[in-house]
Amino acid sequence: MNTNDTIDFFDELDNDEQTDKVLNAGKRPPRNTGKHPKKLSMSDRKFVHQQDDSRSNFKFTYKAARFEEWWLLDSLGSFYEHKWIADVLKRVKGGKEASVYQCQPGAEVDASFVAAKVYRPRSLRNLKNDAEYRVGRIDLGEDGNALVKKAEVHAIAKRTSYGEELRHQSWIAHEFKTMEALYMAGVDVPKPYAMEKNAILMEFVGDIGTAAPSLNSVALDLDEATALYERTVRNIDIMLTHNRIHGDLSAYNILYWEGDIKLIDFPQVVLPESNPSSWMIFQRDVTRVCQYFSTQGVACNAKELAADLWTSHGHKIFKEVDPKFLDPEKPEDRRAWEKQK
Ligand SMILES: Nc1ncnc2c1ncn2[C@@H]1O[C@H](COP(=O)(O)OP(=O)(O)O)[C@@H](O)[C@H]1O
Ligand SMILES: [Mg+2]
Repeated sequence: MNTNDTIDFFDELDNDEQTDKVLNAGKRPPRNTGKHPKKLSMSDRKFVHQQDDSRSNFKFTYKAARFEEWWLLDSLGSFYEHKWIADVLKRVKGGKEASVYQCQPGAEVDASFVAAKVYRPRSLRNLKNDAEYRVGRIDLGEDGNALVKKAEVHAIAKRTSYGEELRHQSWIAHEFKTMEALYMAGVDVPKPYAMEKNAILMEFVGDIGTAAPSLNSVALDLDEATALYERTVRNIDIMLTHNRIHGDLSAYNILYWEGDIKLIDFPQVVLPESNPSSWMIFQRDVTRVCQYFSTQGVACNAKELAADLWTSHGHKIFKEVDPKFLDPEKPEDRRAWEKQK
């Protein structure tokens, strides 16, 4: 889906009566009984008062379609309450899985702008097949801590609707926790500020009128290309030191701004030790990076570079796949198994 499709998607939902059902879910239709309205209890009054102070004041400059507005209020309301953001200014990009918005920060953030990455509602989102990436990864909850309760683990395994909800949150928590760890480790990533069950808040890369382009749309001269290539390799190297493989790295997920780069888009991050496909995923990341820098005139050998980085961190280059990860029902897995025997 491109940006226009996403806009159409939300517009379509906006005209759909289902949207009204979502919006009005839980609300009773007003009844004209002729009686005086019921007096508010103390606890109700407290609730209404709290709301007046916070979420209900959250109005934004960005003109969202109706469904999108509901979605943003729901996803970013808590950031507003905590004074992380004060306004949503514009949508930078609508994507398959998430849309990114330029926001004005609230009193708690010292920056000119912040970026909010808001994930599609789970049920509407074109969920990337996450099985490959989840192997060896612990699922994380809304608070970023590991999900350990039996009921939660069971729900995820059984793919109940509660389990799918948890899986969605775990995906987002992995992105945020990874950004935190990598930011601390000195990797070039936007500074992460906060996470909510459906959104991540981070440093905005760009300025008032422009969001940073991704590297794939930028033509560099050879000196700059060489410097940024080395910088990217250093980033990959630090990530390996901190036990992380990006998993979807390419010039599309590297932002370029004023001669600098920032790596983005981490929900599928992979742990080298625990994922049997890690070497393959790592090679793919390095190959894609090299593909871009080759087009900019940098001489790079993806195979050699990947192998050097990988083995320098003590990892083995797997030629074989552990049989426990092969599916006997699949002919290609069957062939791999036969070959290995
Ligand atoms: N921190 C940021 N500052 C500015 N723009 C951003 C930022 N993060 C993401 N974007 C923009 O949003 C797009 C989508 O973000 P990304 O994290 O790659 O999600 P997706 O899963 O949709 O690819 C990026 O290609 C970039 O244009
Ligand atoms: Mg991306």
